[in-house]
Amino acid sequence: MSTHPIETDVEVPTSYIIVLFGATGDLARRKIIPGLYHLALAGLLPKDYRIIGSAPAAFALSSDAFRSFAHDSIDEFGELAPDGDVWDSFVASLSFAESSAQDGSALLAAVEDAETAIGGDVNRLFHLAVPPDAVLGLVTMLGASDLRHNARIILEKPFGVDLASAKELNTVIKANFEETQVFRIDHFLGKESIDNILALRFANRFFEPLWNRDHVRYVQIDVPETLTIEGRGAFYEGTGAFRDMVVSHLFQVLGFIAMEQPTSLEARPLRDEVHKVFETLRPINPAHVVRGQYDGYRNEAGVARDSSTETFVAIRAEIENTRWKGVPFYLRTGKALAESRQVITIGFEEPVMRLFPLAKGAPANRGNRLVVDFADPGSIHAHFFAKQPGPEMRLDAAEMTFNYAGSFQKAHHLEAYEYLILEAMLGKRTLFTRSDGIERLWEVSADLLASPPPVEPYAKGSWGPASATELIAPNTWCLPE
Ligand code: BG6
Repeated sequence: MSTHPIETDVEVPTSYIIVLFGATGDLARRKIIPGLYHLALAGLLPKDYRIIGSAPAAFALSSDAFRSFAHDSIDEFGELAPDGDVWDSFVASLSFAESSAQDGSALLAAVEDAETAIGGDVNRLFHLAVPPDAVLGLVTMLGASDLRHNARIILEKPFGVDLASAKELNTVIKANFEETQVFRIDHFLGKESIDNILALRFANRFFEPLWNRDHVRYVQIDVPETLTIEGRGAFYEGTGAFRDMVVSHLFQVLGFIAMEQPTSLEARPLRDEVHKVFETLRPINPAHVVRGQYDGYRNEAGVARDSSTETFVAIRAEIENTRWKGVPFYLRTGKALAESRQVITIGFEEPVMRLFPLAKGAPANRGNRLVVDFADPGSIHAHFFAKQPGPEMRLDAAEMTFNYAGSFQKAHHLEAYEYLILEAMLGKRTLFTRSDGIERLWEVSADLLASPPPVEPYAKGSWGPASATELIAPNTWCLPE
């Protein structure tokens, strides 16, 4: 799908030293290193840049070994092969310097050497692709050293595990960095179809007048995944589906669906509107939550034999404001489910009078819906009832579809991570989350975290526990289709 380089009118950052903490970890290998290479191929990395991998002694590599690691990561997970001129200059930009929460001196020396080699004004981007328990120490080390100058810092979720830890993390970040230097990444907000929700709603006149409690019956944000926790047992065991997916990604998507129109797309007004949604989100009632665990989870490496960590969660959330009061927002996600999908459904109210009979066998629950499929490359579907051809006025379910793939001349070729890393280098914070929003989301989650309902078992390859169906009755989940 890619053509390289991409558009010529796109802003390209000025000189950068990119430091990748956790450079030998899974996220770096799967997403960040291939993503940086793709940015280089697309002509979107600065003219002068260096990438320094970093990790504590136990995971450190020589610069040569890091170059091979990067080569193999791109070979396995990248869109295009590591070869040609762009690869030659990309690999030449790579080096490795050890660092830890206690000692950043070798890294500082490496950063300064790289800056001297480039010359002139050079920015620094620190991407902390490290486990949650390593973040506080690294932020403190960076803040206390000369590394912090001219720096932007990308932080990965989860931002804490509850309100108290999120507050502690935010306090440490604020003590060490200006808020304008901090980029809390939620890669769902870098997905093309999620950003398109703003365009769909606010650049067109025909959805927005219906986008409220008078016309919307329910909203569903449904992200089932077929993959299991696959070798991430130790991380997942302390996290679970709610912290891993809902309190971050799904709530952020909810923010975009439910927000009022911002006065502009600048960071402050847009994030203010998202924040207002979070302010009006009612505390999640544990009685409105179903937690599930797939059969066999307790046998995964790194998982306790009596684990009560959920691998599935379904929630009924409510927003207490004029636009949304009374409209349920159903959120569902889980591992080892029947399909991998990322779908938002806006279910509209039935017409006041139903004049037309449905044709025999026509699915009564299939009309009156707008569906945004936000898995890349993404699509939008309007489901409606239409007259079946023939002498009688009988209706059947019909669909109008917009597919991103092939719909525009410009290919959509930045993956969510790539797009957000580019935005961070450009200092654009609109699509990054804010500390007060994150704290609010932990606040509304407090009752659930304190008294979670018991986990219910479900079979791998199913749609989770049956109680998730009861949770939303008389409505029904739109998946499977
Ligand atoms: C990550 C979660 O943040 O998002 C994973 O930790 C999940 O558990 C993933 O599988 C889904 O993201 P994507 O990029 O596949 O849409």
